[in-house]
Amino acid sequence: MNKPRHKGPDMRKIVILTGAGISAESGLGTFRDEGGLWSQHRIEDVATPEGFARDPELVHRFYSARRQQAAEAQPNAAHLALAQLEQRWAGEVVIVTQNVDGLHEAAGAHNVLHMHGTLGGALCAACAHQWQAPMEMTLETTCPACGAQQARPDVVWFGEIPYHMEEIISHLEEADLFASIGTSGQVYPAASFVQEAAANGADTVELNLEPSEISRAFGVRHFGPATEIVPKWVEGLLTGGNA
Ligand code: OAD
Repeated sequence: MNKPRHKGPDMRKIVILTGAGISAESGLGTFRDEGGLWSQHRIEDVATPEGFARDPELVHRFYSARRQQAAEAQPNAAHLALAQLEQRWAGEVVIVTQNVDGLHEAAGAHNVLHMHGTLGGALCAACAHQWQAPMEMTLETTCPACGAQQARPDVVWFGEIPYHMEEIISHLEEADLFASIGTSGQVYPAASFVQEAAANGADTVELNLEPSEISRAFGVRHFGPATEIVPKWVEGLLTGGNA
């Protein structure tokens, strides 16, 4: 039996999925928009375990450049608004991000699950030890635990299982409101979260520059740049509980 739902001002638990669109106005390119990362690089080359096995140097160069860019980027008004929501909302706010930058945390958010890993992390392909990545990771980067020179960025590649899935699913089951911000809805499992949340009785809202591939799955939709529509949406929630 579904648990009783809290609607309007009584709404308690908000689960927010974010994608590359929320960081676009911080200067970090998205993947699938015109001129996006996947028009400049082949996914098979830089975002699969097979690509890494074939040419690890290329993969390190790609992620080291992104790590540098992400380190120089500043959180924007949308990241800041979500951090405010987390602080001021009477119920629970969980941010599930597909982004590998650290801009939610830089904005002051704490309850953030990085389902696709982080650029700030290194992972040893030999012993699975995780540590803080150097700004430039190379073939010589050595695992501090086992000494192997098999470091890889701690990001989830196509064909790998995203992080925190059990925890994310249980948050979706408990959500009173599910919001998706700045994601194209083309990559699973994240693209199925709206159905998961709605099946468990949550209200659903999409905030994106334009309708995504899965826009029709959402009950409420707001279109425009994240720095405009997210602060407005957060203000509406904090003042009246409106999604
Ligand atoms: P995409 O590049 O697929 O989609 C970005 C979305 O953001 C699009 O729907 C844009 O319309 C929207 N957008 C662009 N600028 C925006 C702005 N200023 N304000 C609001 N929305 C904006 O990026 P993701 O959906 O995040 O995974 O991609 C999902 C996953 O695919 C990534 O995590 C990455 C990628 O391949 C892996 O590498 C495993």
